[in-house]
Amino acid sequence: MAGASDIEALKSELLAAVDGAGDEAALEGLRVEALGKKGKISLMMRSLGQMSPEERQVMGPALNGLKDTIGEAITAKKAAMEDAALDARLATERADVSLPIRPEPRGKLHPVTQVMEELAVIFSDMGFTVAEGPDVEDDFHNFTALNFPEGHPARDTHDTFFMKPREDGSQMVLRTHTSPVQIRTMMSETPPIRIIAPGRVYRCDWDQTHTPMFHQVEGLVIDKGAHMGHLKGVLMDFLAAFFETDTVEARFRPHHFPFTEPSAEMDVKYSRVGEAVKIGEGDSWMEILGCGMVHPNVIKSCGLDPDEYQGFAWGMGVDRLAMLKYGAPDLRDYFANDTRWLAHYGFSPLLQANLATGLS
Ligand code: DAH
Repeated sequence: MAGASDIEALKSELLAAVDGAGDEAALEGLRVEALGKKGKISLMMRSLGQMSPEERQVMGPALNGLKDTIGEAITAKKAAMEDAALDARLATERADVSLPIRPEPRGKLHPVTQVMEELAVIFSDMGFTVAEGPDVEDDFHNFTALNFPEGHPARDTHDTFFMKPREDGSQMVLRTHTSPVQIRTMMSETPPIRIIAPGRVYRCDWDQTHTPMFHQVEGLVIDKGAHMGHLKGVLMDFLAAFFETDTVEARFRPHHFPFTEPSAEMDVKYSRVGEAVKIGEGDSWMEILGCGMVHPNVIKSCGLDPDEYQGFAWGMGVDRLAMLKYGAPDLRDYFANDTRWLAHYGFSPLLQANLATGLS
């Protein structure tokens, strides 16, 4: 028959075993061994029936106490094991927020965005700031102030998208070029002015090299002594930086724009290397931009005195620059939103264009 000393001995034995249990399975084994139907404590409980009432009065509470103590010890040990397991998992699963995003980011910058960044980098290095204007323009900024005479055929060559006429009869347009930003800048700033104005422009035209929306960048310098030599220097330096070449052979061919006098188109020498085009030298000429000295009428329209101020301007196609530099052949693909095209021709957003480590 079990006595109080047996209970004490079993208690220390079981507590030691619980304490030393290595995992949850061992702990469960212990629970069955002690508290299961045929467990040591259960068997001792069963022997209560054969005891005298006096003995039972002592042993009953003692055995119940043992049962509770061991049960609680097992529960506590189990909780401790679960806590430890969670801590271990958290230690291995800890998120290191300084690591790059996984899966790796797949977004790319559009070549037009990349070229606009490059333009801003190159021209800001020359002291230009970036100016902007609205896509929906009025006739004054898009045409009249730029010295397009009323009803003049030059307006027709722009394939203008007209908005619905307003009540007063005036009609807004989708700007056909970035030149209206010249007007907005001259009307709001005091010379010296040095700006570039990249942005979207719109013309009703659609084929392999024309889309109804495309991008231009305008350049404008207004000062007291700005002359065509400066224009040439700025553009030659720009082309060398943009096409990342030491040699730029260029020529200025007389042309006509209403807003410049004299006006010219700038051609650069280029050669074909397989599919690619190398800009700067070669046997052929490629027209690359329009430019000229700002017409006195334009300066006057903006409230400046053409006897005091003069300057030069140029305008060129951003998409065209991107095609020449990065070689995507069909302009329509630029605006088709095909992610495969963008994955191929796009640029990493983490490698920003800069003059120190390279533009592209
Ligand atoms: N605005 C002209 C166009 O869209 C481009 C242009 C030519 C802009 C000569 C200029 C310039 O500023 O001087 O065809």
